[in-house]
Parts: sequence; C-alpha cells; structure tokens
Amino acid sequence: MSDAQRTAQGAAPRTGRCPYHVPGRAQADPCTDYLHLRDDESVRWDEDLGVWLVTGFREVTELLRHPSLSAAWPEQGRSKLHTPAEGGSGDGSRTSELVRRWFMFNDDPAHADARKIVAPLFSAERLAAARPVVEKLVDELLAPERDVLDVMEDLAVPLSSRVICHILGLPDDVAPRLAVWAPDIAALLVADYLPEVVTRGYQALHEVTAAVDDALRGEVPEGSGLWLLAQAHRRGEIELQDVWATASLLIYAGFETTSTFIGKAVRAALHAGAWAEVLEAGPTAAVEELLRFDTSVQQLARFATAPVDVAGHRIEAGDLVLIMLGAANRSPAVFDDPDHLRPGREIRRHLTFGFGAHYCLGAGLARLETEVVLRRLGARWDVVEEAAVPVTRSHYGLTVLEHLKVRGGTRNDA
Ligand code: HEM
Repeated sequence: MSDAQRTAQGAAPRTGRCPYHVPGRAQADPCTDYLHLRDDESVRWDEDLGVWLVTGFREVTELLRHPSLSAAWPEQGRSKLHTPAEGGSGDGSRTSELVRRWFMFNDDPAHADARKIVAPLFSAERLAAARPVVEKLVDELLAPERDVLDVMEDLAVPLSSRVICHILGLPDDVAPRLAVWAPDIAALLVADYLPEVVTRGYQALHEVTAAVDDALRGEVPEGSGLWLLAQAHRRGEIELQDVWATASLLIYAGFETTSTFIGKAVRAALHAGAWAEVLEAGPTAAVEELLRFDTSVQQLARFATAPVDVAGHRIEAGDLVLIMLGAANRSPAVFDDPDHLRPGREIRRHLTFGFGAHYCLGAGLARLETEVVLRRLGARWDVVEEAAVPVTRSHYGLTVLEHLKVRGGTRNDA
C-alpha cells in the first residue's frame, strides 16, 4: 500500500509516525525503515525479490534456532536477482570460495570447530585487557583541538579499524585499508549478481590475503588472531585458506559494523534529543538501548534445507529467508513504546547481535568501543549538536554513514 492509499483510507502516512520526526528536516530519519517494514505481516514472501522477510521478534528468535535454516546461504541461497549465469564463482555457488569458508556461513559442527579457534580473543579476560587499549586510542583520536568533530572520519572509522588490526595482530599501517576493503566485501555478499561487484570484492579479498601473508612472514604478536590461526594451521586443524578466511571474516564482521554503529549511536541520541539522558543513564546502559534502537546490521540471511512452518506460512526447502533484526527490535509486543529511545530502558534481550549458535563473537568488543566513545565524549561535552546534515551513501543496497559532524560544549559555555 502506498502512502497516498494509506492517507486515502484514513490511516496515518508512514512519515510522521516517528516520534522524533520534524517535517522538512533534511536528514535521513533512522526510524523510517523500521516503521515501514513493521507495517507488513511479521513473516511474508516478497514477490519482487523472491525471498521471505521476517520482521517479528518471536519469529526471528524461532527461526534463528531452527535446525532446517542453514547459515550456509552463500553456497546456494538465491533471490530473484541472482541467476546461475551471472556473478558468483561460476560453479553454481554464490560469492567466493574464501567467503564460503567463513565460519559465519557454515553450520555446526564445522562452524563450532572454526569459531572456537578465535573465541579466546573475545574472553572476559581479553576484553578487560582491551579496555585500556581502546581508551588510549579514543583519547589520541580526540586529542586534536577541533571546532567540529566528524564522528565517523575522525573517530569511529580509525578506532574500529585499529582495534581489529590490534586483535588480529596486523600492523597498524594496514588499518586505513580496511575502509576500502570492507564495503567491497560487504557488497559481494548482497549484490554478487553484478560483475563489477564481484571484481571489486575479489580484489579486496585478495588484498586481505596478501596482508595476512605479509604479517605471517614476520612475527605476529603471541595470542593475537593470526597467531591463534597459524597455530591451528601448524597443528593440522585447518588449511591455509581457513587462516585467510577467518582473518577476512573478522575484518568484515568487526570493522564497519562497529564504526557504523558508533556513528549511529551518536546520531540516534541527537535525533531523539537524548544526549543528556544518555549521560544520565550511563554509557553502559545507554549502549544497550542504542543497539536496540538503530543497529548497523539490519538483516541476516538463512537458507531453508527443509520445509519450515512459521506464523501460518510454509517456507519451502531452497527458499532464502531474510531476518530483519532492526525491525524485530522495534516490536511493540516485546518493547514498550519501541520507537522511543529510552537510554535507561531495561532490556532483557535485543536481536542486534543475532541469536543462537551464530551469536556475534565480538559483541563485547563492540559494546566496549561504543561505551568508551560515549564516556569520553560525555566527559568533554554535556551538550552536543549536529554541525551539518549527516552524510549517508547507498552502497549496493547497504546504507553507509560517511560523515557525522558534531559540535559540542558544556552548559557553562552557554
Ligand atoms: C555493533 C557492532 C556489531 C554488530 C551489530 C554485529 C552483529 C552481528 C550479528 C547480527 C551476527 C550474527 C550473524 C548470523 O547469525 O548470521 C554477528 C556475528 C559475528 N560477529 Fe558481529 N557484530 C558487531 C561487531 C562485531 C565485532 C567487533 C566483531 C569482531 C571483532 C564481530 C565478529 C563477529 C563474528 C566472527 C560473527 C560470526 C559468529 C558465528 O557465526 O558464530 N562482530 N555479528
């Protein structure tokens, strides 16, 4: 139903139902996509794409645990945009062989075996050790005197790229290259029916592999990601391709997801006029609500290996299912007043980091980085305002937050 039809029938138009909507405001509204998706059934077949869309909180948790929904969708999962003749690796499978080795795109037991090799990187002990590293990086990045801070360019992007290099054991000078690789790899996952996307995605993966090889020729820090992977390779548990695969997975899964989320967290707080409430609730509690309110990973995919019945629908074997995490996080059945940002909200569970066997391995690290950023910004400024309209870029269906320029001060300045 179009907005015009909605209005003709007396229903509220889509825009304007966001509680923070300001008519005529030039910037993208983080609520709009969620509101729009939630207007439809919680499980529905999208005829144009030829995929299932799942937006209900209960259905998402049910399906992410379902044994007949496989995470190995890059192997075979196809939307109507994919045809065997276009894109892919030419062997009938989608995307590159390296990506198909990512444990994120494999089911147990292969998934669990590969995940446990790098899981020690994210233990409570390692996270505690990462805190001073993250704090030092944030302090360095905030040190230059500036009238205007670009939360993305000056802070979130350099921070999360350097953190990934640190945990993997890649040299710091590799960090700026992540911003080039990550979008090209991300595009490969969503738009590999376009030849130019395949070319760029494969090039990025090739460059990641070369950087990993360079690092492994030297001495990688003991206990780092590359060290753990090289040890597992030496013990004969994994092949060299798996070392490259897991390194590229951690870059893809850990960098842009986190940098974009840090930007979105600040943008959401400003959009909702809730900077003071974020500081009052405390960054640790506020981060959970910000994660629920506007996530950087909107959707996950799964591939049905057998028929699955859900919410009165039958998903057939071979169907591709898109699980819409951001929309499910706005479910009124689970969250009171879901479109309001309430930094002190008690949250039993949100779906931003997924659910079940593939639950995000880096959730603690993402929380840590965001919390430190909010804490440090809050220590400087109790008032923050946008210095320009945030700049987003559409990259093959993925929205990338490129610039978020803000200006801060204290109440005493006023
Ligand atoms: C705000 C930032 C982040 C968000 C929103 C996010 C979100 C997610 C989600 C939704 C999944 C589930 C995928 C699925 O079920 O198919 C996931 C998996 C994963 N994430 Fe994150 N992530 C973030 C940050 C990170 C960081 C910092 C790292 C590591 C440095 C990381 C590493 C991973 C890995 C390795 C997986 C695959 C887990 C598995 O398949 O067992 N993520 N992430």
